[in-house]
Amino acid sequence: MVTIQVCVGSSCFLRGAPDVIKAFETIIEKHAPRQVELKGTFCQELCAKGVTVRINEKVFTAVAPEDVPGLFREQVIPILCRDESADAGDR
Ligand code: FES
Repeated sequence: MVTIQVCVGSSCFLRGAPDVIKAFETIIEKHAPRQVELKGTFCQELCAKGVTVRINEKVFTAVAPEDVPGLFREQVIPILCRDESADAGDR
């Protein structure tokens, strides 16, 4: 399971957090609807660098909607693949 948290504090909101959330919703629905949880969070205290996104424990700043496919490919998919390998190892 991967948790993606998008800051919806006022600064990140004004910098485009709703569009970042929409981009994540679209890609999650298409590729991993049951393995990824998308949440909004309060201010992460990185306002000047927003939009701030946390993927599990890693923090990314200045995220724009066009960055979402790359983040998903480079950060989310590897975690899902590791989870699948671990699950297979449990069998
Ligand atoms: S409003 Fe997003 S980091 Fe502060």
